[in-house]
Formats: sequence, C-alpha cells, structure tokens
Amino acid sequence: MILRSTSCWVLVTLVALGRSTQPSAPEPVSAPLRELPWGQLNFLHTTDTHGWHAGHLQEPSFTGDWGDYISFAQRLHAKADNEGRDLLLIDTGDRIEGNGLYDASDPKGLYTRAIFKEQHIHVICTGNHELYHKASSDNEYLSTVPNSHGNYLASNLDIIDPNSDERVPLAPRFKKFTTKNQGIRILAFGFLFDFKGNANNTIVEPVEKTVRQRWFLEAIHDREVDLFLVVGHVPLDSSEFPTIFKAIRQVQWDTPIQFFGGHTHIRDYLEYDSKAYGLESGRYMETIGFMSITGLSTGGQSSTRPPVAEAIRSSPKFARRYIDNNLYSFHHHSFLNSTTFPTAHGRNVTAMIALARKDLKLDHRFGCAPQDLWTNRAPFPHQKSIFSWLQVQVLPDVVSETTRKDVPRLVIVNTGGIRFDIFKGPFTIDTTYTVSPFTSRFRYIKDVPFQTAKRLKRILNQNVPQLVEIPHELATHLPVSSRTQAAAFEGSRESSDLNYGLANQMPLSSENDLPLIPGYTTHDAAGSDGDDTIHSPIKFYTVPNVIESRVAFPTSEAGDAEDPEKVDLVYIDFIEPYILRILKFLGTGYEIGDTEAYMEGKQLTELISEWVEGNWGGDC
Ligand SMILES: *[C@@H]1O[C@H](CO)[C@@H](O)[C@H](O)[C@H]1NC(C)=O
Ligand SMILES: *[C@@H]1O[C@H](CO)[C@@H](O)[C@H](O)[C@H]1NC(C)=O
Ligand SMILES: *[C@@H]1O[C@H](CO)[C@@H](O)[C@H](O)[C@H]1NC(C)=O
Repeated sequence: MILRSTSCWVLVTLVALGRSTQPSAPEPVSAPLRELPWGQLNFLHTTDTHGWHAGHLQEPSFTGDWGDYISFAQRLHAKADNEGRDLLLIDTGDRIEGNGLYDASDPKGLYTRAIFKEQHIHVICTGNHELYHKASSDNEYLSTVPNSHGNYLASNLDIIDPNSDERVPLAPRFKKFTTKNQGIRILAFGFLFDFKGNANNTIVEPVEKTVRQRWFLEAIHDREVDLFLVVGHVPLDSSEFPTIFKAIRQVQWDTPIQFFGGHTHIRDYLEYDSKAYGLESGRYMETIGFMSITGLSTGGQSSTRPPVAEAIRSSPKFARRYIDNNLYSFHHHSFLNSTTFPTAHGRNVTAMIALARKDLKLDHRFGCAPQDLWTNRAPFPHQKSIFSWLQVQVLPDVVSETTRKDVPRLVIVNTGGIRFDIFKGPFTIDTTYTVSPFTSRFRYIKDVPFQTAKRLKRILNQNVPQLVEIPHELATHLPVSSRTQAAAFEGSRESSDLNYGLANQMPLSSENDLPLIPGYTTHDAAGSDGDDTIHSPIKFYTVPNVIESRVAFPTSEAGDAEDPEKVDLVYIDFIEPYILRILKFLGTGYEIGDTEAYMEGKQLTELISEWVEGNWGGDC
C-alpha cells in the first residue's frame, strides 16, 4: 500500500517535470489560426491574470500556464533576435486575487510571487487589486518591485514605506531604455486609473494631476525618443489614457505612442491618432496580447530632421493579435511542436506551479458537477444558468438559521458575487475560489412585511442610479479577503466582456477545414480579425443584478405557495447599503441597527462547497 502510493507520487512528479501545461489540463483543440503580424518592434502583453498562472484546467482554449508562457517568450525572443527585430513583454497589473493559486496560501501569494518573477517582463505596473490591502501593496513594494529589476513603474502611485514610514514612489516614475537589436529609444510610464478604493498606506494621484507635474513635463519634452510607451491598469476608453495622450501630443505632435491597458477584462484595441494605439488583453490568463509597430525611427536620426520630413518619412504601421493561451497556439506561432517547444526554464516553472497546487491541495474534490453551469452563456432563468441553480437548488437548501428555520424568508443574492462558470466534472477547492472568491456573508432584517420585501428585487434590478449605482472601481469583482464586491456589475461594461453574442459577423475561413470551436470572436477598432484562433461565436446573456429565493413559504392545502404576512429579509452583506436605501425609499423606517448576521460567520463560498459535498458526491 505504502509502496504503491510512493511510486505513484514519483510518477506524478516525473510527469510534472517532463511536460508542459499542468498535469490535469486537457489537450488543446486544433483550430484554424491567424498568423502573428510580426513587425519591427513587437510586444507580448498580459493583464488581469488574477492568480490564474496555472492556466484553466477545464477549458482547452486556455490551458497554457506561466511556464508555457516563459517557453513561448523564449522562443519568440530567439526568432526576433535571429531576424533583427525587438520583442518586449508587458504586464499591466491585477496579478493577484481570484484564483486558489494566489488566495489559498497563508499568507496569500506565497507561491505566485515566486512563480511570476520567473518571467522577464520589460515594463510592469500596479493594478487596483494589489492595493486593497496593506499586505498586498507592501508585497509589491518589498518583493515584486525589486524582483522586476527596474522594470516596475509607478507614475502616479506612492506608498508609505513600511520600514521608514515615509511616503515614497512605489517604484520609479518612468524609465528610458533602448531596445537590444535596433536601438529604438523608448520612454515608458506605468499608470493606474483614478482609483479610490485603496488601503490608506498607498496614495493614487489622479492622472490629470500627474500630467501637470514637473517631472512628467520634463520627461515628455525629451526629443531623443522614438516611441512613448504608456502601460497602465487603465481601460483604453477611460478618460485617463486620452488625458495622457493629449499631454504628450501637446509637446510631441508626431512621436508614436503605444498604450497597453487593462482592468475591464476585455480584448480591446483603440486608435488615439494615426500614430497612437492602445491594446488591452483580456483576463485570467485567457489571452496573450501580441502587438507590433513597424516604421519607428531607431536612435538619434529623427531629432535633426524637420518635423514634416519626419512625418513623411515615417508612417508607422500598428498591428495586433489576441492569442488564445494554449499550446496549440504557442506551437503554431513558434513553428515548433510538443518535443521542440518547451524550454528547460519553462518546464521548471510548470513543475513549480504543479508543486504549489499540490501543496495547496487545490485539486481536493468536494464533488462532481453533473453539467456545465454558466454565468453569462445561458439566459436567466435557465436550466444551464448558475444563477438558476443557486436560486432553485442551493439557496433554499443552505440558507437557514437554526433558530428561525421555519420563518418564511426572501433570500437576495447579487449575481456579481459569482465570478465564473462551473464546468461539468470535478468541483474542487480551486473551483470554489474561481466561482466565488469573495467573503460574502448573509445578514437579515426580521419580520419585514412581505408586501414591502417583495418589491426589492425589481428595484435592485432596475439600476435606479441614485439607489444602486456601483462605484467605478468596484465594477470588477473584489476578492475573498475584501468586504465589498460589485452588485450591479453584470449588464454594464461586462456585457461586452468576451464580445460574445455579437454574432452578425461570420469569421469562417473557407480555406481551412478544421471545425470551429466556440470562443472569443472579438470586434475592435481594427475590425474582426484580431483573434488568433478563429472561433464560432458564443452567445452572451446579461443577467439581473440580483436573484431571489423564497424559502419556507406557507402552502395552501392544494399545495400552492401562499403569501406570508411577514418574512425574514436575508441578503448578502455587500448589498446592505442598497437594501437599506431602497427600504427607506419605500417609506419604511429600517436602519442599520435593525440588521443582524444570519448564520453567523458562514460564507456563501463555504455554503456552496458544503452543498456540493452533500449533493454532488461520487466519482466523475
Ligand atoms: C489606516 O487604516 C488603518 C486600518 O483601517 C487604521 O488603523 C489607521 O489608523 C489608518 N491610518 C491613517 C493614517 O489614517
Ligand atoms: C517535432 O519536430 C522535430 C523536428 O522537426 C521532429 O524530429 C519530431 O519528431 C517532432 N515531434 C513531434 C511530436 O511531432
Ligand atoms: C531548473 O531547475 C533546476 C532545479 O531546481 C535548476 O538546477 C536549473 O538550473 C533550472 N533550469 C533553468 C533553466 O531554470
């Protein structure tokens, strides 16, 4: 018995060391691909990875892990060096929170920081998620910044140094560097959008203010620059990037500018003018963004020429591609195969990740999902909707306070608290972190007249701005360790999230006979040919802000539900301010003092995993 399990373990370890991608990941599926538009200067871009550095273990399109990305970057660097091109790697923040690989360790991030730093990234900045807690921003300052060898930039971000208690820039404001193969002179900045939800040990300066600072104006007056590179945890169509664009254009009317953005979790591409473009590369290690520019001046030649001649001489061309993060794409784009593609370094990091997942027991199984359950790929209500599953099966079963289990109750849950789909197959510790990475708990108000309580759902779902408007910085979901999360998130920007559902464009290529698999079909400012993998579109549905379950309602003798006179109004703590505001609007006198914890201490996430254990047990 002992012998057997020992040899099994050795086998698992060998497999982990020998292969690329995580051991339990499915094989990527062959699909028709568009080539990478290589240029003079090329970029690979990641953003909003949120701890998914092991890749997606249940979705073949996104199974590449951070080790595979390291192999990929090494192979593309070799190609660039051979051909005299340059290649730079960019990461624009929100590296943490949202996946067990980050969240399940104590302290959080114990494994991911060591894994992340293995990739050599040329320009990196902070996301809002790194700043919600003092511990995570201190980790950036004390660990990720020094690990980044001068490549971490913080143009509008300060921190209180935990050792000296002094306010200092989290990292250098900007850097100027010259590319290895062509001597392209680049001036780079690293921004964060005007975020206000940070812990009080960091200070985010509004971008409007930063662009008027003396250091910034001096930096952008430098004429010895071939390209301005502005990376930021900033949506491309926000007000912040245009502010930076205008500030640079006022003093450099003609120098090309490349923006890299993030935060909204979408694939996106935007033109600011004919020499200034921006790329955003999705979320959760689903996408590796590829960008190229051709026609840049290369060091010193441009400054002596008159501006008009320069404009005529150089009209740079910009091109983009969104690479599905899997080995099929990586092999194709590097012209290699499963034998020749992985590098020793990439394999090492894949093995590091497998070991971390093992230590964290992320594959510990609570049960086995009998079918896929979707957040946005099914309408609500629907038999395949994760919200219908919660409403009909889970909530009535688990939301029950011992002392009031017979009291009729209305249970209101915000859909923004559920972050990801459930896939048919193992439901593991990892699944709980990806589906519901929040510390949501239930609270309630006793004995609310049913006629009042039943009006809440409609109002919450109407987006009455003064009642339920969600602050911009909460519009992407907050993590397990946070007290807050987005309620009215679905149906706002996220409806363009995967650009799913915009199906009026047919991407089928007749020269290729491979069957199309469903996935990203992105429509951006440059058209519909951005995705490397040609997919069939997935229909995308908006869902209501909240769902409601009615539990322990009285029934008539005929078995029909009857209206109770009073109910316990039970809701997720995050939406309490909205609930109280609406109750006030409805003319009731409820105050914060009338609210109490319901099922003290229990988190929605735990309740879900307990339900799965009790109802979905057995083998997959
Ligand atoms: C910062 O927040 C912490 C925790 O909430 C609090 O204890 C501390 O007093 C605050 N410091 C300042 C300077 O506001
Ligand atoms: C990969 O390519 C190499 C060199 O072209 C070849 O020798 C090898 O058999 C290929 N391996 C696979 C798995 O196709
Ligand atoms: C891979 O890991 C081994 C063992 O930790 C180490 O000796 C080796 O230098 C690493 N190789 C690379 C390329 O990182």
